[in-house]
Amino acid sequence: MLEATLSALEQSARLRIAGAQSLEELEAVRVDALGRKGTLAQASKEMGKVPAEERGRIGKLLNAVKQQLEEALDAKKRHFEEAALKARLDSEWIDLTLPAAGVPRGHLHPISKIQAEIEDLFISMGFVVLDGPEVETEYHNFDALNIPADHPARDMQDTFWVEGGHVLRTHTSPVQVRGMEKLGPPLRMIAPGRVFRNESVDASHDHTFYQLEGMMIDRDVSVGNLTYFMKTLLGSIFGREVTVRLRPGFFPFVEPGFELDIQCLLCGGPGCAVCKQSGWVELLPCGLVNPNVLRMSGIDPEEWNGFAFGLGMTRLVMMRYGIDDIRQLQSGSLRFLNQF
Ligand code: DAH
Repeated sequence: MLEATLSALEQSARLRIAGAQSLEELEAVRVDALGRKGTLAQASKEMGKVPAEERGRIGKLLNAVKQQLEEALDAKKRHFEEAALKARLDSEWIDLTLPAAGVPRGHLHPISKIQAEIEDLFISMGFVVLDGPEVETEYHNFDALNIPADHPARDMQDTFWVEGGHVLRTHTSPVQVRGMEKLGPPLRMIAPGRVFRNESVDASHDHTFYQLEGMMIDRDVSVGNLTYFMKTLLGSIFGREVTVRLRPGFFPFVEPGFELDIQCLLCGGPGCAVCKQSGWVELLPCGLVNPNVLRMSGIDPEEWNGFAFGLGMTRLVMMRYGIDDIRQLQSGSLRFLNQF
């Protein structure tokens, strides 16, 4: 009787073990069959009814069933564990031949890019790249450029004054003066850098922006030399030949002074929104160096002359990349910068 019960119990437990789909199901089988209140425990209560001479054999049988079910449960459990391990190893598999994801690299600011391009170009034409202080003396920023204290041109530039009579340089032109003082003639120099104006900020004005100054001093420098270098500069920046024209412009440190325009690159002349229907875009002021400026820096204007120009690098970057708000450039916003 008990023997039959044990055999049925074992069979049904084995079927459930075989069918178990998870460790949880397996545990439920173990509790049902081998737990304290499980079927095997129930069956062993029947031992008392077994005739004495049969007890030894049935007892062994009972132990054997218990042991075999435990082994079957253990085997199935190992099966689940191995499958889980294999799945984990498969998912963690590393292909050492794949290229590394790498650390994301930064890149140059668009102003730095243009600056580097222009520097390379001028270096190839025999110019040196000079640097000057951002906190400048009043003399270098104004007087030595033929802008005396009472000159109305001082009002043209809204100046940040610093304690002790110094200024935050309002343009890169003082580096011309430093170049002449330090190197003397003949001189071919450019000076890129940050300049400051006490202006209210809007989409086209910032208190801090970038200019690039250029100066060439030699014997018999002419407006023709000036136009040649400017055409070379602009052709290289815009990647094609540009047509330029000079209009008279006033700056105390040049005589004659010019506003250099380029023929509109978008419409090529007839007029469009970018050139405000004029066909021309004002690009950079320039001129032949005023003899007073040469003299003040110890250069004899009877022997030497030259040209100078001041390129608005910030504006140029905005034109080249179609940026319509100057404030973006110094915002530090990665959403903006990562476009370049
Ligand atoms: N320094 C002038 C400015 O910032 C720009 C300029 C004009 C520079 C004429 C020059 C020049 O070298 O020749 O407004």
